[in-house]
Amino acid sequence: MKITIRPENKSDYRTISMVTDMAFGREEEGKLIENLRKNRKFIKDLSLVACMGSEIVGHILFTPILIKHEDKIFNSLALAPVSVIPELQSLGIGSQLIQKGLAKAKKLGHESVIVLGHENYYPRFGFLPASKYRITAPFEVPDNVFMAIELVKNTLQNVHGCVAYPKEFNEV
Ligand SMILES: CC(C)(COP(=O)(O)OP(=O)(O)OC[C@H]1O[C@@H](n2cnc3c(N)ncnc32)[C@H](O)[C@@H]1OP(=O)(O)O)[C@@H](O)C(=O)NCCC(=O)NCCS
Repeated sequence: MKITIRPENKSDYRTISMVTDMAFGREEEGKLIENLRKNRKFIKDLSLVACMGSEIVGHILFTPILIKHEDKIFNSLALAPVSVIPELQSLGIGSQLIQKGLAKAKKLGHESVIVLGHENYYPRFGFLPASKYRITAPFEVPDNVFMAIELVKNTLQNVHGCVAYPKEFNEV
C-alpha cells in the first residue's frame, strides 16, 4: 500500500474535516482544524495529508504553542489532531504521518513537539512524559499522556514551564 504524504491544499479542506470526523466519530477535532486555519500563526506546511492514490486517508496537524515560565517564553509545537480513516487504521499510516510530520517540523526549524495522547502510542516515536522536562499542561492530566519530544537534542534541557495553547483549543 503506497502512501504519500504532502502539505494540504485549499481544495483538501473539506475532505480533511470529513476524514477527521470519521476517525474521531465526532466533529470537534475537524472544527478545531478549521478554526486553527484562520489563526495567523497557522503553518500550512505542517498540515499534512496522507494519500492513497489521489484519495486522502489521513491527516496530521502541528500548531505553534508557547511554553511559559515567569517572564520566559519558549516556542514549541502541539501535535493535534492526527487521524486515519477507520477502515485503514492500524496499518501504519498514522505512524508515517507522525514520523514524516516530525521530520518536516525539524526541517522547518522547530525544536520540540508536545502531544496529549495515548501513552502506548507516542513513546514509539520518541515522546517522553513532558514532566521529565518540567513542562506542564494548563489543565489536569495524567502524567504519562502529556508528552514531549526534542527534535533537536537537548533543546528542552533549559526549557520548562506551562504550555499555552492557542485560544481555538478552548473553543471546541
Ligand atoms: C491514532 C491513529 C491516528 C493512529 O493511526 P493508525 O494508522 O491507526 O496507527 P498505526 O498503524 O501507525 O499504529 C497502530 C497502533 O496504534 C494504535 N491505535 C489505534 N488507534 C488508537 C488510538 N485511538 N489511541 C491510541 N492508539 C491507537 C493501535 O492499537 C496500534 O498499536 P500497536 O502497534 O501497539 O498494535 C488512528 O488510529 C486514529 O485516527 N484514531 C482515531 C483518532 C485518534 O484517536 N487520534 C489520536 C488522538 S489526537
